[in-house]
Amino acid sequence: MARKQQTASEPRFRLLMAGLGNMGNHWLRVLSGVDEVELVAAVEVNSELARERFEQYHLDPKLHFTSYEDALRAMRPDGVLLVTPPAEHRPMSIAALEAGVPVLSEKPLAESMESGLEILAAAERTGVLHMVSQDYRYRPPVQTVKRVLDSGELGAVGSVTVQFFKSLIRSGFHDTLAYPLTIDMSIHHFDLMRFFLGSEPASIYGRAWRNPWDWWVGDSSTSVLLSFTGGVQVSYTGSWCATGRETTWNGDWRFECEHGVVIMQDDRVTVQRRTAETGSPQGYPQYLNEKPQRVRLVRMPAERQAETIRQFCRAVRAGDRPPTAVQDNINSFRMVWDTIRSFETGQTVVADQLSTHR
Ligand SMILES: NC(=O)c1ccc[n+]([C@@H]2O[C@H](COP(=O)([O-])OP(=O)(O)OC[C@H]3O[C@@H](n4cnc5c(N)ncnc54)[C@H](O)[C@@H]3O)[C@@H](O)[C@H]2O)c1
Repeated sequence: MARKQQTASEPRFRLLMAGLGNMGNHWLRVLSGVDEVELVAAVEVNSELARERFEQYHLDPKLHFTSYEDALRAMRPDGVLLVTPPAEHRPMSIAALEAGVPVLSEKPLAESMESGLEILAAAERTGVLHMVSQDYRYRPPVQTVKRVLDSGELGAVGSVTVQFFKSLIRSGFHDTLAYPLTIDMSIHHFDLMRFFLGSEPASIYGRAWRNPWDWWVGDSSTSVLLSFTGGVQVSYTGSWCATGRETTWNGDWRFECEHGVVIMQDDRVTVQRRTAETGSPQGYPQYLNEKPQRVRLVRMPAERQAETIRQFCRAVRAGDRPPTAVQDNINSFRMVWDTIRSFETGQTVVADQLSTHR
């Protein structure tokens, strides 16, 4: 892997990575551009696939391991990156934490709420960092919306509408999930809701289904209504079995605020202010909507996974807790499982029940 020169004062961060599949391929591409990281081992149980990836990225075959435990013991890395299927995250996270090695895990935290709580408990018990790579937070359109909302220029947010539509075909671990969209994708959008609003859900009601033409084994479409503390109402509709026009991966978001709307659509951000208040002849107030204004996207020194790995390395070195450490991420993760509880019971899941996961 091509590397730039590293200064003597900055030893590179020795990373062990596990899982070289679809997302592992993306991570290898990202890591090849991150100078501060040195890949010291890559664990992949599928040796044929590992060979392909090693050739593609010009990696030394000696760095390939088929056993995660052997690699952890032999290489004593500064941190591990888990890009394995969700059901592997619990045992692999706990093994690293108990060996004193910090973990950066792909979302979702785990394959069940119970496993997620076990990872949280291990991180608390050992005092070792466990962070989830919620890379959607670190995308320019998302950061731009966050900046507009936080500026307060549009006043309080009242409600949010989110639409996400993709036509996605996947096999493998996705076939084992009863709710593939909710577990493997909506976690990003749920995490963004908490990020944008800076508050927690107070109640959740949802439905999930398969369309008549569905190619997914589990339910690939959902509609969820969420109330957040502070009173913001969110309506979320998503599908991985879309026909026709698709949204971006971020989805389309509309924030209804006191003084106007913020819209993120096709990864473009627009603000439309409602400013002048005039009296109608009948004495009713009338509001004028200004022309929609396109907002220039913020520039980020590092985006997406390049930003999450940067945060991870810095947090390990500084002994800090990054924003998406498991202690925070458990609250995004529990939204997934409370949504599923609502699907399965047909009931609204309210704050008292939500708080049992804290
Ligand atoms: N952030 C994102 O945008 C994003 C996108 C896609 C996937 N992901 C996440 O990345 C993770 C992996 O997804 P994927 O699509 O790459 O799956 P995948 O099935 O394509 O790849 C997983 C790889 O892990 C390997 N593996 C399984 N068990 C292992 C073990 N014990 N040790 C070493 N290797 C093992 C498999 O052989 C496979 O090659 C999932 O958690 C998924 O949700 C994140």
